Amino acid sequence: MRKGFLTFAAVGLLAAGSLTACGDDSGSDAGGSTEKKPKIGVILPDSKSSARWEGADRKFLEEAFKAAGVDYTIQNAEGDKSAFQTIADQMITSGVTALMIVNLDSGTGKAVLDKAKSQGVATIDYDRLTLGGSATYYVSFDNEVVGKLQGEGLSKCLTDKGAKNPVVAYLNGAPTDNNATLFKNGYDSVLKPKFDSKEYTKGPDQNVPEWDNARAATIFEQMLTQTGGKIDGVLAANDGLGNAAISVLKKNKLNGRVPVTGQDATPQGLQNILSGDQCMTVYKAIKEEAKAASDLAIAVAKGEKKETGQTVKDPEGGRDVPSVLLTPKLIFKENVKDVIADGFVTKDEVCAGAYAKLCADAGIS
Ligand code: BGC
Repeated sequence: MRKGFLTFAAVGLLAAGSLTACGDDSGSDAGGSTEKKPKIGVILPDSKSSARWEGADRKFLEEAFKAAGVDYTIQNAEGDKSAFQTIADQMITSGVTALMIVNLDSGTGKAVLDKAKSQGVATIDYDRLTLGGSATYYVSFDNEVVGKLQGEGLSKCLTDKGAKNPVVAYLNGAPTDNNATLFKNGYDSVLKPKFDSKEYTKGPDQNVPEWDNARAATIFEQMLTQTGGKIDGVLAANDGLGNAAISVLKKNKLNGRVPVTGQDATPQGLQNILSGDQCMTVYKAIKEEAKAASDLAIAVAKGEKKETGQTVKDPEGGRDVPSVLLTPKLIFKENVKDVIADGFVTKDEVCAGAYAKLCADAGIS
């Protein structure tokens, strides 16, 4: 992955290589144009692995499409790979001119992208890169940096707790999600040197298939049993997995003593931070991600082309994919308020009931 953040620079509408079929070259025939009406299809992956997909991505994508006055449809595959393919087929048949997907794995993602391409439909990998795929664009965050922030956040919380030679367990994301690999590369870059120097001890390290939160709790319970309760820090790859670990720590009266990481700045993750059960989360401004992706989708849906100024190498296909990569932000208790101020979550969502006092203490007014 090419490092560094480049702002999304739309270098005009080059109108090169129109993707719409146009069989009439006279251009004078009233009503004779075969140009397709721009329409965008979006397939979200599920509604369980993270609150973000239905809670943030759908909302911000809808806002962007509505503001641009473009026709669109957003559907959720609910973790079902065959439903994912059926939805894609239906969208292509219904005449979408751009298709944006969050793949469930690279295999089915690639099949969908290739089919769309063969039908002249432009495609965007939204948030997850489809390995070996053919997407026209990839829009995401710098996911190695996300992982790095998780590793750094955990280190800070372990230091704050005065932990000596802490045992750190890993609850990684889905092995079928390229992002999970990138997150792990990021946190390993911070933590592995500490394992090597014996400052920290590497504990159990497991992937959570499909980012399944319930399964994560079972896995973590087993980790705790297997180590005789000797886990001092948990690198959980997102807020949902973090909450699963916290639920098990609570049962064992260890919550708050063992720092747990997260990602996505979900209302639940932020509440866990305020209560002291979670160490940190990573805030990804999904409004910006949705805006960048919808700008590209709207352009290609109209048969236009945009420059992103950056590429990401697909390690499987070897292709340099034109990309937009945004910058994630580390959130501790002190700056939970920034996520609310940014309009990502509301004060009502985070500060309800027992959290009202914790919010006030954290300067959330
Ligand atoms: C996304 C995360 C999300 C996870 C589970 C990843 O690909 O980047 O934001 O928490 O999938 O849905």
